[in-house]
Amino acid sequence: MVKKCLFPAAGYGTRFLPATKATPKEMLPVLTKPLIQYGVEEALEANIKTMAVITGRGKRAIEDHFDISYELEHQIKDTSKEHLLTEIRSLIEKCTFSYTRQVEMKGLGHAILTGETLIGNEPFAVILADDLCTNSNDNVLKQMIEIYEKYQCSIVAIEEIPKDETHKYGVIDGHLVDNTEDVYRVTNMVEKPDSKDAPSNMAIIGRYILTPDIFDILRETSPGKGGEIQITDALLEQAKAGKVIAYKFKGKRFDCGSVDGFVEATNYFYNKTKG
Ligand code: UTP
Repeated sequence: MVKKCLFPAAGYGTRFLPATKATPKEMLPVLTKPLIQYGVEEALEANIKTMAVITGRGKRAIEDHFDISYELEHQIKDTSKEHLLTEIRSLIEKCTFSYTRQVEMKGLGHAILTGETLIGNEPFAVILADDLCTNSNDNVLKQMIEIYEKYQCSIVAIEEIPKDETHKYGVIDGHLVDNTEDVYRVTNMVEKPDSKDAPSNMAIIGRYILTPDIFDILRETSPGKGGEIQITDALLEQAKAGKVIAYKFKGKRFDCGSVDGFVEATNYFYNKTKG
């Protein structure tokens, strides 16, 4: 059973400066909801109630968001605006949130390792809230948990991308398993390769299910691309033992860590509310 979800949210979000100078990137709203709330809702829908968040300096707004604001509640009680807090209040009631700080931003792999104290020795999900995913049926994390239950190893969500964008992603190589169209046993993975060196056009997006042995591997992982400790490098160790499945998810993903993706998501969700 996957019972916990880790949200690495300590990055600087430099692509959104100056907005992210004093506001966490994960708190930027698509319509009226911050990115991280979409992520928490996705986890809860996948039956995960324990949320573990990796924060850093300047990220306190995330903790405040998942807490009650008595003054605000008091102000809008019995007014026409009270319903605007219903969704977030329900999340707060149903989930528990714990936090730990990444003191030095040494990369996504290091952020995940920082989460070990919150996760312990069990398989766990990871959501990067700046990848906003949506699907009309089962959400992406729920789909991945089903895959995990079948294969019992680490799972990465993948998407086909234009070949000239491989330098933005971890890219996998693998072979289809079980006569499926969307499940691959990973044989290789490379972090942010130039298109000429990319093993395929299948890119890892911000959803993972990881087995807890990843922590020991991360402890031994040296800084890689960009001088950061990369989760892709640690996953490659598991992949060499045949223990990583890549799953081509059903649904849509918006790269809300980039301005273009953020605007696209905003338009998509806006049109959905109108349509
Ligand atoms: P990104 O590569 O998007 O980096 O991190 P970033 O700092 O958030 O944004 P830019 O590139 O400067 O605009 C991917 C995910 O990993 C987390 C980020 O918060 C984001 O969810 N992360 C990254 C950490 O938690 N710690 C790190 O040291 C690095």
